[in-house]
Formats: sequence, structure tokens, C-alpha cells
Amino acid sequence: MNAPSQHAPLLDGFGRLHDNLRISVTDRCNIRCFYCMPEEGVNFVPHGEVLRYEEIEQVVRAAAALGVRKLRVTGGEPLVRRDLPVLIAKLAAIPGIEDLALTTNGVLLESLAQPLAQAGLRRLNVHLDTLDRQRFLDITRRDDLPRVLAGIDAAQRAGLPVKINAVAVKDLVEADIAPLARFGRERGIEIRYIEFMPLDSQGLWLRDKVLTADAILALLASEIGPLDPIPDADPRAPALEYRFRDGIGTVGFIASVTRPFCLNCNRIRLTADGHLRYCLFAHDEMDVKTTLRDASLSAEARQARLVELIRANVSAKWLGHEINTERFVPPPRPMYAIGG
Ligand code: 5AD
Ligand code: SF4
Repeated sequence: MNAPSQHAPLLDGFGRLHDNLRISVTDRCNIRCFYCMPEEGVNFVPHGEVLRYEEIEQVVRAAAALGVRKLRVTGGEPLVRRDLPVLIAKLAAIPGIEDLALTTNGVLLESLAQPLAQAGLRRLNVHLDTLDRQRFLDITRRDDLPRVLAGIDAAQRAGLPVKINAVAVKDLVEADIAPLARFGRERGIEIRYIEFMPLDSQGLWLRDKVLTADAILALLASEIGPLDPIPDADPRAPALEYRFRDGIGTVGFIASVTRPFCLNCNRIRLTADGHLRYCLFAHDEMDVKTTLRDASLSAEARQARLVELIRANVSAKWLGHEINTERFVPPPRPMYAIGG
């Protein structure tokens, strides 16, 4: 039986309710986006330190007992993890879980879309910055654009709703903004432009390398046509959404730099090596792997301890990142080791 306290809502010190868990299943990736990973010499977590599916499942059960309803599986690149549909099926079966999504670079999606949909995946986001093969190669250091496009086709055939995440780096992707939006309009896919954030492993981020949501809106308006803001259906969703006035298609913006949404944050994160993080940009984290692997604990005691750890991590949460202050210090882990 669960203690009543396990069912108290997962509130942080600022009254924010946490019902959303992002799970990184690996820090490995099959491409090398420059704003995330160095080209060579990445230090990956050793296999034995990566949480097994049964361990992830235990953390999610504890989180679900605390009111977590939404899951997103991330990486690195989650599809490089063997048998991912097996994990998806386990997560989909956990009582309380209402939404199960995945963020992928799409390279391996063509053959996995159908098995993932069958396992209970509800929707996915494909990371794609450009439809230009050369620029894709320049950004990711891999010539995989055709595979990503085939992956998107397969996901749509499998009936999975798709969104595209495009990282917006200034003086690089301006020419890609409108073509992506046109592609989205044709295919019924929302493009979400993500402002370049200081999460890259090489410290390349500069404020004037951020292509801002306002700049992108201006580009879209001049190259495609006017847009209107969509009133927030879910004020806790991070994206600002706009609809083309001609009625064809929507775009979204994750404007973490110019319009931070920390006040509405409802997320916690689990890293591939078993640490809880209350923020993408957090400096401290809490170890759950030691608890998961502590053979002296009974299943009940372990579950109770996981519940405590999750609650403690949420309680320790700060008000928000400080990208826009002098105090900002990038987190010690780059994006691929956090999971986005
Ligand atoms: N800034 C903004 N977004 C990033 N992503 C990866 N690195 C960065 C960065 N430095 C995005 C990718 C991926 C999501 C998890 O995070 O588009 O889809
Ligand atoms: Fe891989 Fe995603 Fe990082 Fe690109 S942004 S290198 S796809 S983990």
C-alpha cells in the first residue's frame, strides 16, 4: 500500500506542479550536431553505468505514484539503444501514465516507427534543422538527411503524430526557416524552432548566435505570410504557437533565451546514468542508481526511497535558469548527457 504522502502532489518550493518526466535512455548518438557534441573524442557513460530498462521502470513507477502523467524518452539518440520498443511497452503499461512521447534525430526511425507505435508510443518529435543535404552534413557531420526524411514518412504511415524540432543558430539556418515551415504545412507537421541554448559541449554558444523567435517570426511572415498567435491551450507547455493566417499549418517556438518559460516548468529529468535533474541547466543532481542497485533493500523499501528522492529533487528546484544574467554558468553536462 502506498503511504498517503506518496499521493500528495509533486510541488516545488515555488508552487509548480510536476507531472512530466523526461527520461534519457542513452548519452550515445549516431550523429554529431555541433551545438551538442564534439566531432570526436566524446566520453560516453560506460554501459554498466547506464540504467537498465527494469531500473528505469522502477523510477517511473515511483514518479507515477507521485502524480507524474507524461513521459518523454530522449537521449543522446534514444533509437540507438537496443530494443527500445521493449521499454516503451513497459512504460506504456504503468498505471497513471497518460502520455508517452519520444524525441529522436530520426536516422533510425524508418524501421522502428511501426514497432514503437505498436508498443504504445503516442507521438514523437524529430530533430531536423534543415532540408538542405549539405547543411545537414555541415551541422551534424553525417550525410543522413535522406534517412531522416524516410523516418518521418514511416512515422506518419504508422499513425504517429510528428513534430519537428529545429535548433535556430544565427548566421547558419536563416535559409532553412521558411523551407521547413513549408514542409510542415504540406505534411501536417508543426515545426518548433528552438533558440540555440548554452548546452553545447565545446562552449560555442554566444548570445549573438541565437536566432530569436522574433527574428524567425519576421522571416516566416515575409517569406510565407502573416501568422497569428494561438492562445495558450496549455499554459504549461513551453512552446509559443502561431498559426498561418491562411489556415494552413502552425509553428511553435521554444524561446528559452528570449522568453524563458521557467515559471511554468513542470518537468524533471532522469539521466541515462541514473541521476535526477530538476532543470536542463541544473548544477546539482540526485543519484537514484545507488538506490536502484542497493541489494540490501526490499522492493518496497527501494520504492519508498525512490519516492523520497524524487520529492527531494523537486523540492530543491530553483526558480529558473539564469541565461540572461551575468551569473549564468553553463551546466557541467552537455545536452547529449542530459537529454534535452
Ligand atoms: N540548443 C538548443 N537546442 C538543442 N538541442 C540540442 N542541443 C541544443 C542546443 N545547444 C535540441 C535538439 C533536440 C532537443 C532534445 O534539444 O534539437 O531535439
Ligand atoms: Fe545527437 Fe541530438 Fe546531440 Fe544532435 S542534438 S548530436 S541528434 S543527441
